[in-house]
Amino acid sequence: MYTRNITNVMNRSTAPVVTHDYFSDEFQRLLAHWNRQRLEPQFPRPDWRERLENDNHMQSLEIEFLEALRSQVAGRAAQAPKDPHAFIAWFEGLIETGPGQGDPLFPWLAEQATRNDLRWFFEQEAAGEAGFDDLVAYTQVKLPDQAKLELARNYWDEMGRGNHKGMHGPMLHRIADVLEVRPSIDTTVGESLALANAMTGMATSRSYAWHSVGALGVIELTAPGRSAAVAQGLRRIGLSGKERQYFDLHAVLDVKHSEAWNREALLPLVQEDPRRATAIAEGALMRLTCGARCFERYRKHLWVARARDVRLLN
Ligand SMILES: [Fe+2]
Ligand SMILES: [Fe+2]
Repeated sequence: MYTRNITNVMNRSTAPVVTHDYFSDEFQRLLAHWNRQRLEPQFPRPDWRERLENDNHMQSLEIEFLEALRSQVAGRAAQAPKDPHAFIAWFEGLIETGPGQGDPLFPWLAEQATRNDLRWFFEQEAAGEAGFDDLVAYTQVKLPDQAKLELARNYWDEMGRGNHKGMHGPMLHRIADVLEVRPSIDTTVGESLALANAMTGMATSRSYAWHSVGALGVIELTAPGRSAAVAQGLRRIGLSGKERQYFDLHAVLDVKHSEAWNREALLPLVQEDPRRATAIAEGALMRLTCGARCFERYRKHLWVARARDVRLLN
């Protein structure tokens, strides 16, 4: 029934407005497929008018989803200080107090998860990966100079400073090859897709440009701890330093990225217009809320599967 509604939405931009469960697997898969299709470099199409109508409809669904997510964090974000230095302190505090921080999933991945557990986790994460480099590229359009320069430095690091071997995206794909996983939208949980869809939606819409700056900044802030735990798990199951390079690298490099992002992008942006503090805070909390939902769903899947295996053994 719901699937049929989705098909209608894909085909007929005039479909009646229905209230969606914005966090369901079905809704997020719909958005993920659309994102994949629309961001692909393409040729002019004879059916461009139909495609445009469909895009308009999908974009309104995307905004409905972003607004549903924003409404969940707006109260907390409104409490973020507008004074620039106080704001940075608040933002940095999210490493301790942000949604999903300190989730028990990560010590478990580091110390106990089996190779199959790590493969499933990685498959979910990789399919939901929106591509940090492209998100930065979309976000930097028309930003004030100082912030734009910081995003450019960050982007250059993502590009391996001009060296293919150092590019972060392909480094992540190499782990997929080593673990022999084939990430795909249709086998990925909605929570992981929601995270990527939220990041893509914020980065590609100028109305959420400040949100995107906050969401990307909070990834830099919180990624090192998670990366270190995943790297530890991958080392434990036998991956070499070269094979797990993506996670080892981000456990260290993102500490520097985060400091620079906060100092060179967030601080001057809020100094210039204090209203941006709230938007940046909302974007950061939207990203962390999506992350927290992922961790909970992953634990449910992995720990329930583990409990079932133990029962079968006993
Ligand atoms: Fe990176
Ligand atoms: Fe980074």
